[in-house]
Parts: sequence; structure tokens; C-alpha cells
Amino acid sequence: MTPFNNGLPENEPAEAQSAESVNREPLNQYIAGVGDLVSGEFRALFPPHWEVPDKLAEAMNYSLLAGGKRLRPLLVIAACEAIGGHREAALPVAAAIEMVHTYSLIHDDLPAMDDDDYRRGRLTNHKVYGEAAAILAGDALLTHAFYSVVQATRRYGVPAESVLSIVEDLAEMAGPRGMVGGQAADMEGEQGLTDLESLRYIHLHKTGDLIVFSLLAGGRIGGASEEQLEALRRFGVSIGLAFQVQDDILDLVGDESKLGKKTGSDVKQQKVTYPYFIGLEASRREVERLTEEAKTAVRAGGFADGSRLLEIADYLMSRDH
Ligand code: IPE
Ligand code: IPE
Ligand code: MG
Ligand code: MG
Ligand code: MG
Repeated sequence: MTPFNNGLPENEPAEAQSAESVNREPLNQYIAGVGDLVSGEFRALFPPHWEVPDKLAEAMNYSLLAGGKRLRPLLVIAACEAIGGHREAALPVAAAIEMVHTYSLIHDDLPAMDDDDYRRGRLTNHKVYGEAAAILAGDALLTHAFYSVVQATRRYGVPAESVLSIVEDLAEMAGPRGMVGGQAADMEGEQGLTDLESLRYIHLHKTGDLIVFSLLAGGRIGGASEEQLEALRRFGVSIGLAFQVQDDILDLVGDESKLGKKTGSDVKQQKVTYPYFIGLEASRREVERLTEEAKTAVRAGGFADGSRLLEIADYLMSRDH
């Protein structure tokens, strides 16, 4: 792999590196490029000498290679490159966060949780492999993610001090104070009992925290300053909330064939959502407001080139899957 520089001359002044820059690939190609790199990591998931039960590896790969949007890896790499870092050093962490996200989806779909039959355009993991195997595939993906993070140092020489912070962030943002905490609150939340503030807590954690993690990790690998990390955090909180509000909107009015999952899941499970509280139109306006808030954080963040992050914010706002 060769280091990637967005097709821009290395020492181009920051002002010239705007979204209007002509000399670089369009966002859809950029996204596809990240997706290919991450899928490549998954095809060589384990060191060759590891003995892993075939069925377990198959169940892990089934969901990993089912074709998710790879948003979180995209954010790791875009944040790293916004600082001026190289994407290859960020790949093990990009793969790791996609493993954690994929595990969260496998468990989210289980009968004891959202009880869903389709995901990423396929039957859900437990529908194919059974509940025990799906639970274990999730457990294995979560654990293996930490192995993958460490490979940033082993393979690419990312300073161990940075990787220590990344491991700490991942444990915080995927665990009880993060995604799992949000999922626990989501499972407890009942329509009529939960208020808008509790819903914000659920969204911030079940969805926002893995997004914030991705941006911070990319920033750390790129060598971000404290100021830049803070801007990435604020960007992540806002797009994370916007992303889940949009997910809730799409659960009501989206196209199942594009989404790769059934709509109407939230109503069926009596979930509390933004559309439930404030209606569809106000939810759409909230997505727009949060996206603007996110872009403001990037513009003030002092990045070498924040234009990809700005583009990604707009792309997420208008997504239909
Ligand atoms: C779905 O995430 C679950 C949420 C946190 C809303 P994505 O919409 O990113 O799912 P994939 O990765 O593309 O399947
Ligand atoms: C899922 O939220 C969040 C996590 C898996 C952490 P949802 O339950 O709304 O996600 P979908 O709609 O099933 O993808
Ligand atoms: Mg859920
Ligand atoms: Mg769900
Ligand atoms: Mg949903």
C-alpha cells in the first residue's frame, strides 16, 4: 500500500485545500476506497497459525463481509487524514471499530433485544447460525477488536502511548459508560415513560460514542493536538446524534431494499424515538441543525484539511440507507 494524500500536493497551503479542490477523488470513490481496504483487513482476520473453530470464523465473517456502509472506518481515516496523517497506519483501528459495531448489530438483532430478521441485506446472524453461535460471534468480534487495535503499533509503528489512549477510549466508549450503556437504556426505555432528555442519553451513547471514538482514534493516529481532538469530539457528538435521528426517520419512511433491514422495527418494539416525540418534520430539521453544528466544530478545529469531514457530514444528512 502506498501512503495516501488525497491527491493533493503534500505542502499545499491549508486555504487551498477546500471542498472546492479539483485535484482529488469524489466522495463516493473515497468511501469505496476505504470500504475495500477494510474488507481486505477482514479477509485476513487472524494470524495464519491461530486455530479458530471454522463455524465461529464463518459466523464472524458472515456479518463482517455482509456489506455495511463502513461509516466508522471512514471516520477514522478521514479524521486521520484531516490532521495530515496516512491512512494505512489507521487501518487496524478502522477495522477494529467496524468489528465492535458489527458485534453490536449482531446482538442488537437477537430475539431478546430488537428481534430482527434482516441486516445488511441478509438474514440476521442468529437466523443463519442460531442464537448461541451469534452471541459467540459477537463476543469474538469484540475481543478481536482489541487485538486489531494493538496491530497499529506492531505493524505500522504507531506510538504505544497513542495506542494506549485508543484502547482506553474504546473500552470507555464501547462499554458500560458508552455503547452498552446506551443499549441498556434503550432496552429499558418505554414509550410514555422516557422523556426527550433520556432519549438524548440513549442516542449519545448507543450510537454517538462509537462515532466519537472513531474520530478521536483517527485524530490520535494522525497526531492531533488537544484542540483538534476536542473539535473532533464535538463533530462526533453532533453527527452521532444526527445519525441516530436519521436512522429513526428511515425506520419509519425508508426503503427496505436500500436499507437492507426491515422498516417498522421501532414501532413494533415500541421504541422511543425522535419522530415519536417531535414528529417527522421536526426530526428532519433536527438532523439539519445537528449537521450544521457539526460542521461549525470542524471549521473552527484548526485542521490541515477538514473538507472530507464536512462532505461526510452532508452525505450523512442526505443518506437514504
Ligand atoms: C446501524 O448502523 C445501527 C445504528 C447505530 C443506527 P449503520 O447504519 O452504520 O449500519 P451499517 O454498518 O451500514 O450496517
Ligand atoms: C442500534 O440502534 C444501536 C446499536 C446497535 C448499538 P437501532 O436498534 O436503532 O439500530 P438498527 O435500526 O437495528 O440498525
Ligand atoms: Mg436497538
Ligand atoms: Mg435494532
Ligand atoms: Mg434503528
